[in-house]
Amino acid sequence: MEINEWCERILLGSSWEDKLCELGTYEDFKRKEIVLPAFPGRPPGLELDEWKKRERTSFREVGKFHSEKERGLVLHFFANHELLAVELMALAILKFQDAPANFRRGVVQTLKDEQRHVRMYQKRMADIGIEFGQIPVSDYFWRALQAMNSPKDFVTGLSMTLEQANLDYSLHYARIYEKIQDKETADILNRIYKDEVSHVKHGLIWFKKWHEDSICSWKSYVEALPKPLTPARAKGIGFNREGRIKAGFSTEFIDELEVYSRSRGRCPNVYWFNGNCEEQITNCLYGQTSRTPINQLGSDLRALPTLICKNHDIVLVEKKPTVNFLKKLRRSGFTLPEYVEYGYQNNLSVWNYGIIQELRPWGWNTESTNFLKPLSKYTKHDRRVHWDHKWKTLYSKIWSAAQLHDFLNTHKEPWLCDVEVVGVRCTKTEEVKKIILKNSGNFLIKTPIASSGRGQIRVKNGHIRADQLTNLEKIIQKHGEVIVEPWLDKVLDLSFHFDIGENEEITAIGWTRFCTNTRGQYRATFVSQMVAGLSSETKQFLYGNGKNPRQLNRLGETLSRIIGRAIAKLGYMGPVGIDALVYRNSNQELLLKPIVEINPRWTMGRLGHSLKSRVNSARTAIWLILHKREAISAGFNSFVEWAEHIEKSNPIELTEDKEQISHGILFTTDPIQSTTFATVLITAKSLEECEEMALQSGLKISI
Ligand SMILES: [Fe+2]
Ligand SMILES: [Fe+2]
Repeated sequence: MEINEWCERILLGSSWEDKLCELGTYEDFKRKEIVLPAFPGRPPGLELDEWKKRERTSFREVGKFHSEKERGLVLHFFANHELLAVELMALAILKFQDAPANFRRGVVQTLKDEQRHVRMYQKRMADIGIEFGQIPVSDYFWRALQAMNSPKDFVTGLSMTLEQANLDYSLHYARIYEKIQDKETADILNRIYKDEVSHVKHGLIWFKKWHEDSICSWKSYVEALPKPLTPARAKGIGFNREGRIKAGFSTEFIDELEVYSRSRGRCPNVYWFNGNCEEQITNCLYGQTSRTPINQLGSDLRALPTLICKNHDIVLVEKKPTVNFLKKLRRSGFTLPEYVEYGYQNNLSVWNYGIIQELRPWGWNTESTNFLKPLSKYTKHDRRVHWDHKWKTLYSKIWSAAQLHDFLNTHKEPWLCDVEVVGVRCTKTEEVKKIILKNSGNFLIKTPIASSGRGQIRVKNGHIRADQLTNLEKIIQKHGEVIVEPWLDKVLDLSFHFDIGENEEITAIGWTRFCTNTRGQYRATFVSQMVAGLSSETKQFLYGNGKNPRQLNRLGETLSRIIGRAIAKLGYMGPVGIDALVYRNSNQELLLKPIVEINPRWTMGRLGHSLKSRVNSARTAIWLILHKREAISAGFNSFVEWAEHIEKSNPIELTEDKEQISHGILFTTDPIQSTTFATVLITAKSLEECEEMALQSGLKISI
């Protein structure tokens, strides 16, 4: 038979005899004119526009393998992909008459394999009692590749992308069917997997030839990939490195693909870490420029939102984290988002990433609003791209003190603090002095808006020193007010987390325990085993002396509701964290101050909370922020050297299902990108073991 005739019959025919007709010995005559259909002919029930008329069955519904029928229907999805491959190959042969003869022969061979795959699935489905055509099928592959313009488009889009993904899928499902002891189906999938390796290989060989790229670099592949396909379509479930090596891809290519992420249809949330959010608000109020350390926090930890993202989300970064770091993260069970580089010029004017679900800076302020403005036209919720000056009230410790005051008056519980510990607003130095002298205890004088223990004066035994007085006068001059509160004998810090959604809908997320350093700056969050290392008295206190183990959760829910409502009234939507603390009063009794500070933004504690799902819950895990001077005092010149040493000495061990971390130390920000700050997750059997492990590499947890 002549191969163009054969392909026409396959493509235009609507019976199984046409679709699966055999070629036998063949000739290849060039044709001048070819008429191509918009859709391939299909046997009844399998038409590509069928799903518009019939109710669609999603793969997610049947891919759970709950019943015999579901197991059979999964094959229906695979069989349709094989049939589409048959048709797209026939289309390519017809379209590209001028392609090299041996390339066409290669496609003919592959097409025959695909016909065999269809037959195998068809037979297996019939054995199980499923008919091909029983459910409507997807036309995605056809839509994505029908417009291909060259044989290179064909090999890039089909062989190196859709067939490459099947290196993952076929192997993954072969394992599943083996597990449920369906040997027949597993054998088919294993057979198909083997063929698929050679199909991908064939495409890759020709790609290299046409692209004059002897290794097929990642860049040349991405550039050559016909739209709307993205490299995300070249991956399935799991990541089969071995199959890709067999097919001939370079390690560099495989590494890049492994860490590549791109939404496959879902609108992404776009994250941006502006860690200097509060400082910028204060600066804006008082016309100052940023101080270096906090700015550094911004650029060092720019990729931090990675830890809260889903794999269809986007994180905006000056520069992408390195492939090596991302590989480590992925292999530790993290899902990776897509990174969009805006470079050091802060250029967001070109956006090729489609509609955005929501813009999510670490915190809203004028800086993040201006920075994200170019993206506002792509968002579904346009009105979210703004900073409302009313919101600066929310950052103020004066506002949070007022909230605490009201809360304590309406929620009298024996384990909560008395209104006397609520901070008092003062606008004059004399007022501050009066309070301190009257009570002659220890006091904290706080700047209304400042983060992480900044702008605090600590007064001991009712005595305010001359230098502190000068400082106080300066603060009052600059801010117009301060807040004075008793300096409590702190036992531990906690935070409550919640989200405010549309229509003032509030969702409580949970609570975490965090730790500060001696200067009151944030140091760490407990990710798992919140009460590790605490005295039994404190543990009992937190869990209502065994009578009320959920009391912290309940308090968190009440706070979310009440404070959430007050915040939502000002129009704010997004995450909120409320810091609280447990202290000892003068009678040595433990009490809880439920509101110390309110943060209407993402917080380190909230990120720590999201890390919970990454760690075996039976283990203790702490997530820390590190400073460069710690690396130096541990005897290392950089975070890179230190990280290498730490991770080598304490490699990550995963749970059996490979989904959670059960032991080891992992840098959660790329050490190469950390000049001053870095973050690290430590997981072990107990807090003592965490401390010991870290100390052996020169890392003092010091909490
Ligand atoms: Fe196939
Ligand atoms: Fe194939």
